[in-house]
Amino acid sequence: MSVRRIRINLNYVTPESSFIYPIHSDSGEHILDARSPVSEKMLADLKKRFGDYVFYTDTGERAVIPAHHMRAAYNKSRELLEEIGKTQKISRIAYREAERVVEEIVNDLSSTEIGAIELMKDLKSNDEYHFTHSVNVGVLAGLFARKRGTYTRDEIKYIMLGSYLHDVGCSRLDQQLLKKEGKLTVTEIQKMKRHPQMGYELLKSLEHMSPIVLQCVLFHHERYNSEGYYGLPYETLPEFPKIVSICDIYDALTSNRPYRPAVSPVFALRAIVNAIESHFDYELISEFANKIAPILNHAQMFYTLNDICELSTQELALIKEYGRDDCMKPRVNAFCKFVRKGSQLHVSYYPEPVSIDLSRDPRRKLTKILNNEHQVQAIREKISERRLDG
Ligand SMILES: [Fe+2]
Repeated sequence: MSVRRIRINLNYVTPESSFIYPIHSDSGEHILDARSPVSEKMLADLKKRFGDYVFYTDTGERAVIPAHHMRAAYNKSRELLEEIGKTQKISRIAYREAERVVEEIVNDLSSTEIGAIELMKDLKSNDEYHFTHSVNVGVLAGLFARKRGTYTRDEIKYIMLGSYLHDVGCSRLDQQLLKKEGKLTVTEIQKMKRHPQMGYELLKSLEHMSPIVLQCVLFHHERYNSEGYYGLPYETLPEFPKIVSICDIYDALTSNRPYRPAVSPVFALRAIVNAIESHFDYELISEFANKIAPILNHAQMFYTLNDICELSTQELALIKEYGRDDCMKPRVNAFCKFVRKGSQLHVSYYPEPVSIDLSRDPRRKLTKILNNEHQVQAIREKISERRLDG
């Protein structure tokens, strides 16, 4: 039987939480029984006596979860399914597919994983939005992972579990902060940014938690341009949290929030496409747009003919025909090269439009649909004057 000593950073422990194992000091002194809540005062005392770190010992045995707990967790998973039924976000066909994916993962869950899903109830009791959002992200990510066709059944399960739990660290944040409607102060933003790590610490203390789940929780706020919470280089990150991050943004945009109404699926998809090369990479977004978007927005395209799009070659083009096999590859007429300086575009127009079938041109990729009305209007006037709008 393997025995491992695992370190707990007290700075990430929130008052009134409890541990599933007895806690001891570096020298082995018993500090706290399993499952007894630690008050704010106790936390302060512990830090004074033992510094930042205390420990628990993982005996390598399966976590023992009482049968009633298992049943409750199983019911919780069923509740997740019912929650999907309430969401208006997916078509009936997608709902049936989601039902199958969730059934599969529920059947495959280990007792530790069921215990982890139980942690979502903390989110629900604190904040109904966060709970519903987490369910939606889990379902979307499960569908997306399944539709990609590149993951094993276990990987799909872990991506889904990681997505259900991606914001579980928020249950350890000050609830006033989560519900605050106005702008957050710099200190509040810093506190908010601790939630991936808090979730990670929380789940890491559970036995045999899959690294995929931990990666999803820890890295779901990283960005393509390395300006995410930890500023990590995107290409070095695993793919799993990137899936969570796309589904997280999509669901957040299409949800009503106290400070703004929900946007339509088409608008949300366009916003996601427009975040290629800032938040997301092209390949994953292209798959999301082609494989998931059709069941989310009833196959409505996120662009219309004659929309102005931006290409990866720093060109602007008018969309002339929808992409037949790949919605990210329409036929376009490029009309200028540009250089972006801040929010300004400096353009040099072509003498005549250049017709490009993006499905036959591997060098060029669609990376944005221009949506600043003022800018679009100004460009339309220019290309009309130069007869480049044909
Ligand atoms: Fe988050």
